[in-house]
Amino acid sequence: MKIVQKVEKIYNDYKILGEWFNKFSTVGRQKTGGVTRLAYSSEEDEMHRIFKDISEDLGFAVETDGVGNTFVGLQKNKNKRCYLIGSHLDSVPNGGIYDGVLGVIGGLLILKWIKDNNIDIPVKVVAFRCEESSAFGKATIGSGLVTGKVKEEELCNFKNKKGESLKDILKSKGFLTKSYKLGELEGYIEIHIEQGRVLWDKNIELGIVTSIAAPKRFKLSIYGRQDHSGATPMMMRKDALSTASEVILEIEKLGRVESIYSTVATVGEIYETPNALNVVPGFVELGIDIRGIESKSINRVVSELKNSIKRITDKRGLNYKLTMTSSSEPVKLDDTIVKGLKRSSEKLKLSCIEMPSGAGHDAMEFADITKTGMVFIPCREGISHNPKENASLKQLYNACKIVCEYLKEVSL
Ligand code: GLV
Ligand code: MN
Ligand code: MN
Repeated sequence: MKIVQKVEKIYNDYKILGEWFNKFSTVGRQKTGGVTRLAYSSEEDEMHRIFKDISEDLGFAVETDGVGNTFVGLQKNKNKRCYLIGSHLDSVPNGGIYDGVLGVIGGLLILKWIKDNNIDIPVKVVAFRCEESSAFGKATIGSGLVTGKVKEEELCNFKNKKGESLKDILKSKGFLTKSYKLGELEGYIEIHIEQGRVLWDKNIELGIVTSIAAPKRFKLSIYGRQDHSGATPMMMRKDALSTASEVILEIEKLGRVESIYSTVATVGEIYETPNALNVVPGFVELGIDIRGIESKSINRVVSELKNSIKRITDKRGLNYKLTMTSSSEPVKLDDTIVKGLKRSSEKLKLSCIEMPSGAGHDAMEFADITKTGMVFIPCREGISHNPKENASLKQLYNACKIVCEYLKEVSL
């Protein structure tokens, strides 16, 4: 009890999280209550501007790198060995207001505690650009550039839905396309909403993440024949959309078969031309997302997926092209951080469990270069990437406390 009282003394400022959060929450608001802050849009720029303003008002030094990532510390010094804590400020279209933002303001609160209490732990807070794959078909671009996983030469290959390349967008925004070259890190820690319903259903305050599921993503183009929907008899059609529908259901089936290994398979994107009521669809493009924490299971889905697409299109006499747009391996997070964060939650009397992350995060980019850990807080009914996403700032505050306790334990 004595220990709890002592550590509680430095943890004030719960209200300030709400004040910061409110400044971000109106950016990119939709009528649905959700937000659209696509990567490298003016809304994402605005999110970074707010982060910069809040940080400067607190007396912190702010640096923006050549691709628009924002770093905040006690002073400017990129290469000083430090812990990096943060997340992202972009969103999916019509997404929730908590995804990413909580990890950034959580990091800021920890830095504020460190400064206010004169604690000698080197920490920088970071807000990465383009964590979501919805804008350029590729996730974690900002953090990938910083860690060297994404190469600057690749930027011309990442295109948005209008066909504009990320390289051209960066140029038009005055960025240099050179990312921040970090010095060696003490570690990377990210706080995030769980985006699933495990913590919510079990009524547990915190999740300590042990591994992160890796996505393999594909673009499937199906070439049918655009025909008159009234004049073309059913047996004479090459309907790209009906073919795509069979493929979509097959992908769902493959995901279900492998769900015992926590693998998931989703078709979340569909583009059809000409998309007209009285025309047999001539062309369809699908975006396919397969994820899991067991490579063998993911690979089985990928191989079955290839067989099924061939079988379905052969049967219907259509051509197709399948392109892998990204592929990463499941990521294991650092055991000593997992154990340390658990100890901190026990010390602060907060309930927690160890769990894998089904969603991708910037933390994936760091796991093989520095000790990396993540803390999840529950989100209401596990809803995320949805305007109804909801989470408690009290739980965020708890997550900040266990991270700060862990840092104190290992650093002082
Ligand atoms: C990030 O939100 C993801 O798609 O996992
Ligand atoms: Mn997200
Ligand atoms: Mn996120």
